[in-house]
Amino acid sequence: METRILGTEREALRAAKALIEAGEVVAFHTETVYGLGADARSDGAVRKIFELKGRPADNPLIVHVHREYDIAALIDGEPPYAEALRRAFLPGPLTMVYPSSGKVSKFVSCGLNTLAIRVPSSPTAQAFLREVDLPIAAPSANRSKHVSPVTAQHVYDDFHGMIPLILDGGACTGGIESTVLDCTGEIPQILREGLVTREMIAAVAGNCGVYRMRAGERPKSPGIAYKHYSPRCATAYCRSAEEAAAVYDREKERGGAPCILCESAAAEALGGRECLDLGETGEQMARRLYALLRRAENTATLLIAVEPKGQGGVMAGVMNRMRRAFGVEE
Ligand code: TXA
Ligand code: MG
Repeated sequence: METRILGTEREALRAAKALIEAGEVVAFHTETVYGLGADARSDGAVRKIFELKGRPADNPLIVHVHREYDIAALIDGEPPYAEALRRAFLPGPLTMVYPSSGKVSKFVSCGLNTLAIRVPSSPTAQAFLREVDLPIAAPSANRSKHVSPVTAQHVYDDFHGMIPLILDGGACTGGIESTVLDCTGEIPQILREGLVTREMIAAVAGNCGVYRMRAGERPKSPGIAYKHYSPRCATAYCRSAEEAAAVYDREKERGGAPCILCESAAAEALGGRECLDLGETGEQMARRLYALLRRAENTATLLIAVEPKGQGGVMAGVMNRMRRAFGVEE
């Protein structure tokens, strides 16, 4: 199968619509990461997503809709705080989990009685979703456990020859996946941290919890239980630049090609060693993280992370992705 990379010109949107209506899978740009979309109402199309990704059958998918789409039919009620959050943050990088009305394929929610809904702000995503005018089930467009894709080329690297079309909207400006928020309880509860932070949600809803999985418990959001975002090279995780320098020098002596992933301040302390600069702010680090992980896996024999010092806000999401990419317990 030829994998075409197109923009949002008429012909591209028409092709995307025809593919979706035929039960095929189409990758598309969003402001967070690229998605791998299919008709959420179709059992066959949704199962195709799981097969392509090699995704565990108990990890539910997010349904994506355009900004004017009426989600009332997809969900079974909405608490007042969720309506306020929707008005404040959508379209944007916030996924809201509602009681499901059971209108989409049962394979979307993997047996849960809830449905995750997202309205991406990316003009490419909006053009695609408006054209099809259907709920589109879409996980991140990477092979399961691999680093999420933030360019069309990343999607191509994982799926060329396997999917017919990628709608290219350029590099993703958000860079980490959306915040997933459980809106089925008394107060909203974050299941996956992201660009819409706990502080931002609490400012609108008055309160916001963060879900932490307890040992032995069945996770509320199955995706958070899996190893994720892993670069395909050896990795090491260090708490300080000094520790990273020692690990780097040892690998170099062995004849390897080590590389250090760190925030700008740490890079200065590492004097001449090969560094990938995450930047200074939480937003910069979110935007750069996955692209740097994908770059490093193709060139480095050992990728060494230095834990960033920044805390709070978007850093919660960045740290969650970094720890999981490097296999460090939270
Ligand atoms: O930014 C994003 O959210 C991207 C773009 C493509 O929209 N999508 C994305 O999808 O990250 P995925 O499949 O890689 O991650 C979806 C997360 C998983 O952790 C999954 O367990 C959780 O959302 N999820 C989906 N439906 C759920 C539900 N009904 N209840 C709880 N968690 C749910
Ligand atoms: Mg994913």
